[in-house]
Amino acid sequence: MQDPKGYQQVNSLQNRDLVDILKEYPFEWKQKNARIMDIGCGDGSATTGLWTKYIPENFMTIVGCDKSQACVNFAKKNYESERIKFITLNIEDDIPSELKGCFDHVVSNYTFMWVQQQEKAFSNIFNMLVKDGNCLLIFLATCNIYENYIKLSRTSKWNPYLKDVKTKFISPYHESQDPKSEIRSMMKNIGFTHIKIQVQNRTFDFLRGIEELKDMMKSFNPFDGLEEKWDEFMDDYVKLDPNAGTFIYKLLVVSGTK
Ligand SMILES: C[S@@+](CC[C@H](N)C(=O)[O-])C[C@H]1O[C@@H](n2cnc3c(N)ncnc32)[C@H](O)[C@@H]1O
Repeated sequence: MQDPKGYQQVNSLQNRDLVDILKEYPFEWKQKNARIMDIGCGDGSATTGLWTKYIPENFMTIVGCDKSQACVNFAKKNYESERIKFITLNIEDDIPSELKGCFDHVVSNYTFMWVQQQEKAFSNIFNMLVKDGNCLLIFLATCNIYENYIKLSRTSKWNPYLKDVKTKFISPYHESQDPKSEIRSMMKNIGFTHIKIQVQNRTFDFLRGIEELKDMMKSFNPFDGLEEKWDEFMDDYVKLDPNAGTFIYKLLVVSGTK
């Protein structure tokens, strides 16, 4: 994501879901001195202002990581403190040895739908955890936005921009008949125990309707050249789906223990 400042104005969907889940999900937090890694921290506001409200307050440290240097710079500038740090890290790459076996919890909100190498990323989480450490990951399985992007990628007008739509934007579980079993089996093979996976059917009405959807999508648009044509692209998007102001989706909530 290249525009953390823009994302911060339009992240009410991601914040709402994170708070809902943190309130209701029976996750076992370490009660004292917890060390936590937040993958895909984006602008850093959720790492700092939301996760910290629900983890036991005497945690030792939270490290937010993101593959986007723009996000890490923004988060560092606005949110870094004694106990909260930010680093650049792509969870699909080999992780540095100093991060292995260091964290009691690895968490992530609205990031893993953009991770194509799921097995590599889940193995990295496993390796970053201490023995008996656990992870909590919240991400999209499928949504109406994906369907609209796929339809637009099949038009001659938008195909040149959206050629990589399946690898750059769409969740690897969008077309899966049974994401729960797929993820469970992958996590089991890696070595996770106490695996729990929920698929939640959700909807969200953007507060400012379609205008907010447009701004949100722009803040994390990954397609070269599309930004210059954004208004035209979004006009075609809305023509395709007049109910675009409502986000309809399945959210995965995944946890497991090392
Ligand atoms: C939608 S933002 C979510 C930000 C934040 N977690 C929140 O709840 O608001 C997803 C972030 O994941 C990051 N990301 C995507 N793929 C990643 C990867 N492979 N490794 C690390 N970060 C990644 C993006 O750069 C983006 O900043």
